[in-house]
Amino acid sequence: MRKHIVAGNWKMNKTLAEGKALASEVVNMVHAEVPGDVVVILGAPFIHLPAVVQLTASASKVLVAAQNCSEHAAGAYTGEVSVAMLKSAGVQYVIIGHSERRQYFYENSEQLAKKVDLALAEGLTPIFCCGEPLEVREEKAHFDYVCRQLTESLFHLTREQITRLVIAYEPIWAIGTGKTASAAQAQEMHAKIRGHLASQYGAEAANNISLLYGGSCKPDNAKELFANPDVDGGLIGGASLKARDFIDIVNSF
Ligand code: 13P
Repeated sequence: MRKHIVAGNWKMNKTLAEGKALASEVVNMVHAEVPGDVVVILGAPFIHLPAVVQLTASASKVLVAAQNCSEHAAGAYTGEVSVAMLKSAGVQYVIIGHSERRQYFYENSEQLAKKVDLALAEGLTPIFCCGEPLEVREEKAHFDYVCRQLTESLFHLTREQITRLVIAYEPIWAIGTGKTASAAQAQEMHAKIRGHLASQYGAEAANNISLLYGGSCKPDNAKELFANPDVDGGLIGGASLKARDFIDIVNSF
């Protein structure tokens, strides 16, 4: 059965000292306050990763994600970070295809497919992001848009490979805007995504893939979002920067 997951995406926030303090606080709160069977993931900046891996080692529920990886395995790509490097630092997850990477760094479906392949080959779990901009939703083309993102970057995978992924639906109009998708909008899209995965890989595989919602998910709306049958957790930006808020979201199942 699929897992409940709450993943924080710190984005480009926190100095190393601040990131270490946040990771420690989260670990302490998880030990003290999180009884349930939930996977907690901290998506930290690259240079924080070894320290965050070390600080979370005592908490088996808390795992670590990078926010990106190179589409190349190794070599002369100045400034890039490979999946093998992430693996060697003890990182277990990698966020791939976040809308900010697509929008500001022009990452396309083909590059994202390569990143997914490399991550899977190294045994890392991709958290693959999809989601539509506002104008696409207004044109009522959002289901096709998101399904196309999945088809283009993921549908070359085998059934065994696809079930090793986590998928995050993050409508761009809800990211950092305080304007969250309603529980009904999230459920509707998640059901569509699961149906699309089932059409290619069968219902059993689709039912084993955790689908996270992201976009202004906060302590006061997480319960309603997570109560949906196809919402298996969240990818949290702003609210993951405060341990209290993040843990309240973790405890919203
Ligand atoms: P916010 O929670 O700040 O809207 O960000 C969501 C997000 O982009 C997580 O990856």
